[in-house]
Amino acid sequence: MKVNPSTYKGLSRPAYVLEENRLRQNLRLIQNVAQTADVEIILAFKAYALWKTFPIFREYIHATTASSLSEAKLGLEEFGSLTHTFSPAYTDYEIDEIARCSSHLVFNSLSQYDRFHERAKAVQRGISLGWRVNPEYSEVETLIYNPCAPGTRFGISADKLPGKLPADVEGFHVHCHCESGSDVLERSLVHIEEKFARWFPQLKWINLGGGHLMTRKDYDIPKLITLLKDFHRRYPWLHVIMEPGSAFGWQTGALVAQVVDIVEDHDILTAILNVSFTSHMPDCLEMPYHPAVRNAVTLEGQSPAGKKHTYRLGGNSCLSGDWMQSWQFDHELQVGENIIFEDMLHYTTVKTNTFNGISHPDIALLHADGELETLRHYSYEDYRSRMD
Ligand SMILES: Cc1ncc(COP(=O)(O)O)c(C=O)c1O
Repeated sequence: MKVNPSTYKGLSRPAYVLEENRLRQNLRLIQNVAQTADVEIILAFKAYALWKTFPIFREYIHATTASSLSEAKLGLEEFGSLTHTFSPAYTDYEIDEIARCSSHLVFNSLSQYDRFHERAKAVQRGISLGWRVNPEYSEVETLIYNPCAPGTRFGISADKLPGKLPADVEGFHVHCHCESGSDVLERSLVHIEEKFARWFPQLKWINLGGGHLMTRKDYDIPKLITLLKDFHRRYPWLHVIMEPGSAFGWQTGALVAQVVDIVEDHDILTAILNVSFTSHMPDCLEMPYHPAVRNAVTLEGQSPAGKKHTYRLGGNSCLSGDWMQSWQFDHELQVGENIIFEDMLHYTTVKTNTFNGISHPDIALLHADGELETLRHYSYEDYRSRMD
């Protein structure tokens, strides 16, 4: 079916719509940074794992990063390459299979390394082992996204590292960013080098983690390239890896929903939709943030009472708090019309759930020629099979 992406008129069911053109734009930018700065940029599955689109990704990047057995298997089986894997803690019952799927395996603690490094090497000959280190510096203000806050469970701090690394530790992994610009990387690198450069001569690679939002409009790409080139000049033997997730899926598509009813209480109008914030846009409540709705003005946190064409948008779950306010439209909303939530691909599509058994939105790909292809339709069987 052909659709016009500015309105998605004709859709009668909810769908996450990935726009191929926009995805390719992000991939081209990322590929260009990787080539110009001579770094390896890989996709973090935690942010984006729509595997039917991996053939598109493969035109631009060659590897992925996993944080669990399922992600590692997806990397090997669907992306077609061994993964760079980091998990806060590997388990006895999964480590062998994880190692089998991995080219790089990063341990979060010295005790995890002691417990599993020989086993990993026995399963996967040539696997490259690394340690996650904690730079004790992060500018991320939202606490649940700050991996370096005091008491963090992520990474080994410099004071706990042995002067001489074990011979099989080839890399360090540092992750301290979230939707950050290159100015933040510049400041982080000062701390990272101050704390860990004394070990760099013993390493082959450094992974600078995710959170580099290089596809955001105002991201300073030339500065990023300069920073990375300067880093290479200082440590020419170090292979530099970056593993953003959001940057790949950033602004690549919308969640298109429909109005199914309009209710009123205490002068507050709520448009009830056939999607749910808690099930299909969980970061809106968790992060929290206020999503943009196409052709509507966001009145952040304000009650819609008494304001023309202004509504709360409500989910169709039983959770009383499954709503957000307010958005002002230029007309009175009608049952059946589309409500288009912008930028709902990265993280959102991997974090959804089937709470209340609410029908999960389809996943669709809008091709460059305007053809909308449904990649996945969900049914009762999907809900049922999770409860087996
Ligand atoms: C270790 C690690 N790598 C990569 C990422 C991806 O980060 P982003 O999607 O913000 O680029 C994360 C996100 O939490 C992470 O924890």
